[in-house]
Amino acid sequence: MFRPMHELKAADALGFTLDGRAMTARAGDTVAAALLANGVEACRQTPVSGAPRGPYCMMGICFECLVVIDGVGNRQGCLIPLQQGMRIETQAGRRQPDAVRA
Ligand code: FES
Repeated sequence: MFRPMHELKAADALGFTLDGRAMTARAGDTVAAALLANGVEACRQTPVSGAPRGPYCMMGICFECLVVIDGVGNRQGCLIPLQQGMRIETQAGRRQPDAVRA
């Protein structure tokens, strides 16, 4: 459904992980755009049914892009610029309030 408008150049590449899998995306992308560019369409599961959800509006309205970033849950991936070495995890259900910040 989504595809980058330009090819990824090595000089602009940032490395990050999603659930421990190494990925790269371009500097300037948001976390949600980086996941979509890597073919990841679901980044969380709903608290009630566990249904997979993925970025939809890409502008901070729908909250479908929630992920855990560096140990902090409920982060809106579409509003957060990707940074080198980010440790991103899919969010299963609600944020865990006692989650330890990395
Ligand atoms: S994709 Fe809708 S809030 Fe992030």
